[in-house]
Amino acid sequence: DFNPLDLSLDLPLVLLSNRGPVRFDRDATGRTVTRGAGGLVSALSGLAEHLDDAVWVCGAASEEDVAVAGESAGSSILVQTYPSPRLVEGDPDGPAIRVRLVVTDPTAYADFYSVWSNPVLWFIQHGLYGRSLSPVFTRAEHDAFENGYAAVNRAYADAVVDEVRARGGKALVLLQDYHFYLVADWVREQCPDAVLTHFIHIPWPGPDEWRILPADIRERLLRGLLGSDVVGFHTRRYARNFVLCAQELLGLPIDLEQLTVTVADRVVRARYHPISVDPAALDATQASEEVAAHVAMLRYIFLDDDRQLILRVDRTDPSKNVVRGFLAFGTLLDQHPELVGKVSFLALLQPSRTDVPEYADYIALIGAVVAEINARHTKEGRQPIDLRMVEDFPLAVAAYSICDVLIVNAIADGMNLVAKEVAVVNRRGGVLALSEMAGAHEELGEFAVTLHPFDVQQMADALYTALTMPMEERHRRLAAAARQVRTHDVRRWLDDQLVDLRRVAGFG
Ligand code: G6P
Repeated sequence: DFNPLDLSLDLPLVLLSNRGPVRFDRDATGRTVTRGAGGLVSALSGLAEHLDDAVWVCGAASEEDVAVAGESAGSSILVQTYPSPRLVEGDPDGPAIRVRLVVTDPTAYADFYSVWSNPVLWFIQHGLYGRSLSPVFTRAEHDAFENGYAAVNRAYADAVVDEVRARGGKALVLLQDYHFYLVADWVREQCPDAVLTHFIHIPWPGPDEWRILPADIRERLLRGLLGSDVVGFHTRRYARNFVLCAQELLGLPIDLEQLTVTVADRVVRARYHPISVDPAALDATQASEEVAAHVAMLRYIFLDDDRQLILRVDRTDPSKNVVRGFLAFGTLLDQHPELVGKVSFLALLQPSRTDVPEYADYIALIGAVVAEINARHTKEGRQPIDLRMVEDFPLAVAAYSICDVLIVNAIADGMNLVAKEVAVVNRRGGVLALSEMAGAHEELGEFAVTLHPFDVQQMADALYTALTMPMEERHRRLAAAARQVRTHDVRRWLDDQLVDLRRVAGFG
């Protein structure tokens, strides 16, 4: 069998993302190491473990990360990842990842992360600005761009350059996400033989949205990205928008069919590859005793007497549209009083980016809306919404497996892996109620009930449709969605990129 992982990489690999594959902390027993959560980590860890020469450059996220980075004095460390993560010196006796932790000045990092990456770039790319009052770019925001976003990008780019040079100047460089739009161009300048790709995991809107940004800054961001050989997205729509931005905002020649941009003597390609989940890992989690115990508890609380359960699992991010989701549920109960006491809504929400005022305010708003709906519709001591602020993956998987409806009503979402996780794990004929603005809708929309994220009445009606859908139909749709995800898993996301990259970049 042909294995793209082998085929693609006669080059060493240098990865860059803000969050790394492991995280160091300290407890009573001393230093601890945990594996990072999420699809990106499992996809790219698999790749990094597989290769003889790979390094993952990422931010030092905890105090202990900073201590580890200090001890390694600017060079990389080796972390054995299996059976449990641990720092090793010398040869590991199992799969391992080489990690380079970058430490930056905390003030610069705060401007980079809490001012520019979130909210500015995240908000523009998710269409979250109302525009009449925010954003405002004063001298302070311009300075935060220079001393924060650009300075931190430069520090990470320097680490990437260092690692590429240590590998003879030739490497495959995989840059990830909106934190690092300035990196590719800087790395190309210093390492002209490197093959550079930048994958963007969030939506890419059309040129008009980008006009919100100061002209000099948006040009720098675009030019930075165009330092790559390939810019990757989850959907064709985002890739197209990117190419249109290069034409409209920079005046560069493009080919909209081929999705290419010509930059001086180079051709930059936009590509789309939908990210996915690791079904085997999800199956293993679902089979665990911990999940079984949660399932029993959730069934007891929510599913006695033919009751039904609506679920949402999200970070508390305004783009997830949590508040309108609850308003739609409130409307559903107002208009179908027979459902009161019969349908519960479990929301597992993880507090996120709470240093950013917009995010902190959003959590407060969620709390107020839930309190109001619960006050209006509590029946026989039973509150319709159970809001839990937790990050507990086994609990989420248990809830995935028994929910009747999953609601994903994002205003915009690059992909949304929760929908794919539920498709794999659900055993109850769960219906996906999926925003037309989530990347996952391109693959799963035909098996889902579509939601229009601003239309609260439409969402209430769609929830009603999902809850009253005949069981046979529910199972048919779920089985089809599960098949789609299992045959298009995260390994395929990676393989397709590598095969494509080898072809378009003509290396190896
Ligand atoms: C999204 C982004 C990731 C980011 C994650 C969590 O999925 O695409 O790059 O890591 O959100 O956000 P956080 O700010 O906690 O890293």
